[in-house]
Amino acid sequence: MRWTERQRTMLGAMGITVWGPPALAAPAEIAPAREPAAEAGLAPAASPRAAARSTTPPVRATAPAASLHAAPVDDRERRALEIAGLDWAALRDRVAACRACKLCEGRTQTVFGVGHPQAHWMIVGEAPGEHEDRQGEPFVGSAGQLLDRMLAALGLTRSEAAPGQQVYIVNTLKCRPPRNRNPEPDELALCSVFLQRQIALVQPRIILAMGRFAVQALLGSSDPIGRLRGQVHRYRDTPVIVTYHPAYLLRTPTDKARSWADLCLAAAQLAH
Ligand code: URA
Repeated sequence: MRWTERQRTMLGAMGITVWGPPALAAPAEIAPAREPAAEAGLAPAASPRAAARSTTPPVRATAPAASLHAAPVDDRERRALEIAGLDWAALRDRVAACRACKLCEGRTQTVFGVGHPQAHWMIVGEAPGEHEDRQGEPFVGSAGQLLDRMLAALGLTRSEAAPGQQVYIVNTLKCRPPRNRNPEPDELALCSVFLQRQIALVQPRIILAMGRFAVQALLGSSDPIGRLRGQVHRYRDTPVIVTYHPAYLLRTPTDKARSWADLCLAAAQLAH
């Protein structure tokens, strides 16, 4: 991959040092002396272009998450069917009015999602935090700022742009869990029908699943991120790349290079 000065600056802002001659450095040359994916027992990272040229990454089909909450099956199915038929405006209203689980009691507002309604890239996070709950937009806190820098390094943005550049950012849960605790299984099951409808409306070409709860909702897997990354999974027919949550990367910056390799895999899959 050829890095423009802007991309090198963006990668620097992510905390990733690009070694090698200007405009020629590849992700495999980023920062660590030892390839992190190899360290993790996974295939080495390749640049999007190199990966597109080489063999197709392994594709693993995984089923969507099973519904776990305790509501009667008929009610649950009826609700899911209703939501599956909503258009954007009706879906937004339905999310804003949702009182299906106890998270509605502590929220300031629901956090629906943001971006291009036909975005090629869909970014799926976990749940709103304090800032998101206050502003009504996903990923606006410090993790979101890192996410924006990661996206910018790929030439992507949440701001207005063409569908190839403007991503759609969404959370698995639309309400903030109290004190940012982990989502509970019934909350994930009840809320993931909204996510499913958003995916059906956007019809993204690639989904980036950030963190274990996005993975659980999309792939129905509780495997660790380290085991799932480096492969192309599927949500229905859409390729899914699993990567670390930006909040985790803020705590563990040594994994940023792995995360960059995941973004490159996603870009390669899209170019495929
Ligand atoms: N973490 C998430 O997963 N989503 C947000 O919107 C903010 C932080």
